[in-house]
Amino acid sequence: MTNEEFILFGGTSGNSLAEQMAQILEQPVGRCTIGRFPDGEVSVELDEPVRGRDVFLVQSTAPPVSENLVELLALADACRRSSARSITAIIPYFGYARSDKRNGQRAPIAASMVASLIEAVGIQHIVTLDLHAAQIEGFFRIPVDSLTAVPVMARVLKDKIPAGIVVVSPDEGRFRMATEYARRLGAPVAVLHKDRKDGASTSVVNVVGDVRERPCLIIDDMISTGSTIAGAVNALLGQGARPEIFVAATHGLFVGMARENLAHPAIRGVYVTDSIALPHGLWPGLNVVFLAPLLAAAVRRIRSDESIGDLYTHVIHAGGRALSAPV
Ligand code: R5P
Repeated sequence: MTNEEFILFGGTSGNSLAEQMAQILEQPVGRCTIGRFPDGEVSVELDEPVRGRDVFLVQSTAPPVSENLVELLALADACRRSSARSITAIIPYFGYARSDKRNGQRAPIAASMVASLIEAVGIQHIVTLDLHAAQIEGFFRIPVDSLTAVPVMARVLKDKIPAGIVVVSPDEGRFRMATEYARRLGAPVAVLHKDRKDGASTSVVNVVGDVRERPCLIIDDMISTGSTIAGAVNALLGQGARPEIFVAATHGLFVGMARENLAHPAIRGVYVTDSIALPHGLWPGLNVVFLAPLLAAAVRRIRSDESIGDLYTHVIHAGGRALSAPV
């Protein structure tokens, strides 16, 4: 298959990743103009033909979530109406993922609603990363390649964390992810029992596992307000953990009081991926793990109908390319 047969576009929140992926794929990013009409409506125009081409749209539905979501939908609609052969959406961070059940309330299941919108505009394939809940895949009838950043994150952390570390899951939902980190780092796991009071505050009610005098690595799928991490740090220190705590989360949203919540002196380093573009110099001790090699490798394999099972080994051992950097 030639490069002319496929084209990669980035939306506002996917542009930087699309540029990096394009470099690896040795193909320029497709040109498109994204703006706003005077009344705030999203305006999109493709500045090159997509007729008969396989299109890959890179866009995280990160804050401002609704704006970025509508951009993605509008880009896909433009591609479909312009006779693209296929449309794949690469959504490194899938917004609304936490709205995956109703919990007995008169509330929507917004993740399912977003899945329906994505299918309605003609997107035929999704690539995403560390979905908040694996069962979100079930909201789609189209194929979903649900990747994980854990192998790359663990590879980076291996050289940064002290010996004797305990991997900590901040709640029951992240136990499997913690176990995968622990397996790769050769470390034991502890689990916290978290109680969420509202969207911006949580409390830890129990610590399961021995963390006394041990350094800890708290892992999570995302850091939003940082309240989960702040609660976990206090609980671990309360149980006698060494004030040497590292944090690794796939998605760094950093909204509200996140910066203050992560400023605890015991936190020695915070690692997130660039699934959401981060401004430079956000704060010292924040490190970004690059996703472009993983996502570019996924695009290559999707195009050639190859398995993505051994993708991670390939990316980690590619050599020559930095896997992370301070922000
Ligand atoms: C919750 O179940 C998630 O996995 C994260 O722990 C949570 O969404 C992080 O949010 P915050 O940083 O606001 O505590």
